[in-house]
Amino acid sequence: MKAIEVKKDIYWVGAKDWNLRNFHGYKTSRGSTYNAYLIKDEKTVLVDTVKAPLTKELIARLESLIDISKIDIVICNHVEMDHSGAIPEIMKKAPNAKIVTNASGKKGLVDHFGGDDWDFEVIRTGDEMSIGRRTLKFVCTPMLHWPDSMMTYVVDDKLLLSNDGFGQHYAPGDIFTLNNQKDIVFEEAKKYFANILYPYCKQAEKALKGIDGLEIDMIAPSHGCIFEGDDVKRIMDLYEKWASNEGENKAVIVYDTMWGSTEILAEAVRAEFENQGIEVVYRNLQVCHYSDVIVDFLDAKYIAIGSPTLNSNILPTVASFVTYMRGLAPQNKKAFCFGSYGWKPGAIKDIQKIFEELGWETSVEPFGVKYVPNSDIEDDIRECVRRLVS
Ligand code: FEO
Repeated sequence: MKAIEVKKDIYWVGAKDWNLRNFHGYKTSRGSTYNAYLIKDEKTVLVDTVKAPLTKELIARLESLIDISKIDIVICNHVEMDHSGAIPEIMKKAPNAKIVTNASGKKGLVDHFGGDDWDFEVIRTGDEMSIGRRTLKFVCTPMLHWPDSMMTYVVDDKLLLSNDGFGQHYAPGDIFTLNNQKDIVFEEAKKYFANILYPYCKQAEKALKGIDGLEIDMIAPSHGCIFEGDDVKRIMDLYEKWASNEGENKAVIVYDTMWGSTEILAEAVRAEFENQGIEVVYRNLQVCHYSDVIVDFLDAKYIAIGSPTLNSNILPTVASFVTYMRGLAPQNKKAFCFGSYGWKPGAIKDIQKIFEELGWETSVEPFGVKYVPNSDIEDDIRECVRRLVS
């Protein structure tokens, strides 16, 4: 297997997980990659590794370039095992290598792998390290995605090795954005932000400030494609927008139905949002995966969630979605919920509680209907939408 030169003497040596379809619950329809990079300078530096089952692929790419025992430095930008899983094997082959990471990274690596005999160098944000002709600069980006997360900036090459930041779960044939269908790359970048980084918007804003002022002409994340040319500014601008939690004039309606009653309500909600001139995204959870549904929350101002009550509870498809949504904690939404019930409206009360936990604006009361909605009820739920958007 070959390495791919991304800048002079800097190589992509990662692995492609072509058939990955589930990344802890996130549906990864286009697979993923674990991007590791090798810098050949007076020091030989490996930045990040791959998940353990793909270690052979990393080693084959490294061996196409170097004698692995000669690696001087292994930089760990992030301890999560999709990037650190191969570190123990690399350290067996290069026992004299120094591991460079921050204090949380060191603790995380020791907690995961032991590593008592590893030689650590602990860095802080802003620290610089000369590796010969080049200087590396470290930017700690805690919670983007774990407390240990950081980025490595190769000063002389204007190259930001951004780890999870700016990633996409996408296994492309060619790792450069300029050679790919950009709509796919940016669609996957948005899906990645929504499913991985959504709870950490404030930290994303801080990270953007941390790299503000660096001259960057290439961003090489640890998943998916490498951004270059105009795509660098485009992805940074999109991160600024997504992290801001500023919704557009857009509504997401998410629901499931048992005997069609909640769907009748959902249809009325959709009709009224459209009537109000608001763009609608309409998702039935019988056919839509929750990790796809959450993507549209990034730029929607209004959320409407419908569930019938089943055995006093939220219908399991909707319960699964709202649990996932609560974890990702979108902010700054105006929301209401609706649904049918037989003798006790349990589902809408539980959904409303989740809206309140998230701090969303919930001035419109949950809208419940016993058994089957009639045409008057359709008018009533349309009024809920009008009040929500007023
Ligand atoms: Fe790609 Fe947080 O690991």
